[in-house]
Amino acid sequence: MPRSFTPQPTDLRLGRIVRLLTDHATVVVSGTKIADEIGGSRSEVWRLIQQLRGLGVDVAGHPATGYQLRAVPDLLLPNILQPLVQGTRFGEHIHHFYKIGSTNTAAMDAAAAGAPDGSVFLAEEQTAGRGRGANAWQSARSTGIYCSVVLRPALPPTEVLVLSLAAALAVRSAIRQIDSSVDPDLKWPNDLLIDGKKVCGILAEMNAEATRVRYVVVGIGLNVNQATFPRELADQATSLRLTTGSEWSRVELAVALLKSLHREYRDLLERPDARKLILRRFADYSSWIKGKAVRIEENGGSFEGTTEGLDEGGFLRVRAAGLLRTVLSGTVRPL
Ligand code: BTN
Repeated sequence: MPRSFTPQPTDLRLGRIVRLLTDHATVVVSGTKIADEIGGSRSEVWRLIQQLRGLGVDVAGHPATGYQLRAVPDLLLPNILQPLVQGTRFGEHIHHFYKIGSTNTAAMDAAAAGAPDGSVFLAEEQTAGRGRGANAWQSARSTGIYCSVVLRPALPPTEVLVLSLAAALAVRSAIRQIDSSVDPDLKWPNDLLIDGKKVCGILAEMNAEATRVRYVVVGIGLNVNQATFPRELADQATSLRLTTGSEWSRVELAVALLKSLHREYRDLLERPDARKLILRRFADYSSWIKGKAVRIEENGGSFEGTTEGLDEGGFLRVRAAGLLRTVLSGTVRPL
C-alpha cells in the first residue's frame, strides 16, 4: 500500500519528560533537572515541551521558571504503559506514533523484519487506518485506541480465527473491567457493538505457511472518547463516551486491554480446553450466533438465512434455503 510519509516513532524523550512531570506532579520541575534526566540541553527541553504542547499536553511554565503538568495527559506513551503492563508479554516492545498510516501495516512490516512476539504498535492518529474488506477505519487524534500487536503463536493457520474471537473477548472484558454497566454485543467474527452500533473492530492479518503461522498481527480499533462521528458513520458507529456520557481514560483502558489480551492468548496456547471455552463465551456474549436472521456478504455475493451457532473452528453456521452453510469470512448484516 503506498504511504505518503514515513512514520516516525515518537521521540522517547517526550515520554520521559511526561513521566518525570507526572512523578513530580505537585511541584515545578526545573529545565535543568529535566535536561539532566533526558541527557540534553535546556533549549532542547524547551523545544520538546513545545512539541508536547502541540500534542495537547497541558504543561505550565517556561525555561526560566521550570515546568509543571496542569493535567495528567491521556497519551499512550511507552513510558506510561510499560510499567503498567509489566509481567505480560506486551511489556517489552511498545512502539508509539503520534501519526501513522496504519499501525497494522507498521506491525506487519516490523514482524516481517523480525519483531518479536508481544511487540505493540500504538498510534494517537492514523491517516490510513484499515478495516476488514476494503473498509477504512476512522482514527481521529487521541480519541480512540489504535493498537496492533505482533503474535507468533505455535498454531496452524486454521486456529487464527479463534485467536481473533479471543481478541474480541479480551476487548469486551477490558471495557467491563472499567465499567461493568457497559455490555457490548459481539458480532461475528470480531466486532463489538453497543445498542447496535459499532464500538470496536478487529483486523487480524497473518503470514503463514500451509501448516504453521509465522506471525499474526491483531489490530484493534476501539472508539473511546469520540463525541461525534462523520455523518456517513453516525448511524453505525458509537464510542464509550457516547454510551456512558463521560470521558474514559485511554491509558487505563489500553492497559486493561493488553492485560486481558495477554490472558486470552496465554490460555489459548496453554489450556487444552481453551478453544472450546472461547467459542462458548463468544456465543454467550453474542446475539448474532444463534437464531438471528442475517444476510451474509462474501466473495462478491450474498445470501440470507438464520444463524445456527459456531462450528469447531469458530466459523459461523447459517441455515439458508434448507441447507446448513458455513461462513468462512465476510460481513454479517441483520435482516
Ligand atoms: C474492522 O472492523 O473493519 C476492523 C477495524 C480495525 C481497525 C484497527 S485500528 C488499529 C489497526 N490499524 C489498522 O489500520 N486497523 C486496525
